[in-house]
Amino acid sequence: MAEKTLTIKYKEHSSIDSLSETDKELMLRAIAATDGAYAPYSGFHVGAALRLADGSVVVGNNQENAAYPSGLCAERTAIFAASAQRPAMRDYEALAIAGRNAAGELCEASPCGACRQALLEYEQQQGHPLRVLCLLQGGAVREVSSIADLMPFCFSM
Ligand code: THU
Repeated sequence: MAEKTLTIKYKEHSSIDSLSETDKELMLRAIAATDGAYAPYSGFHVGAALRLADGSVVVGNNQENAAYPSGLCAERTAIFAASAQRPAMRDYEALAIAGRNAAGELCEASPCGACRQALLEYEQQQGHPLRVLCLLQGGAVREVSSIADLMPFCFSM
């Protein structure tokens, strides 16, 4: 038996202002997208902003439903919308994610396992990394350079 260790590298930016101009813009779009969430059940509003290779941005937000499993997270709403509307531009550079709690305060949002799996497949298809920027509590930003870093030993076909 061999015991092995897995480590991931990530960056933590102290605030949105420490990001590059384009990443800051993307995070601001994610924050703005929290306003479009339909989250009457959880009260947790999530916004996601996806930058495509041509520089255009597609946003998504969580959409809930009285039949709870029928809802969808912000991240998948964003990437499914981008894939559906721009099938010829399935080339994604970065995804920013932000949360807003029931009190209206910005808060941390990190992609759930199902979203990681969905995002990973697009990353594998495009053959280059999709960076992920997550807003953290207090306004810092965590950056991973590839969705694969959040999904070790993943399932793929
Ligand atoms: N949610 C997202 O939209 N993205 C995440 O990264 C985590 C959770 C949504 C799903 C649900 O509408 C609400 O947040 C509470 O789980």
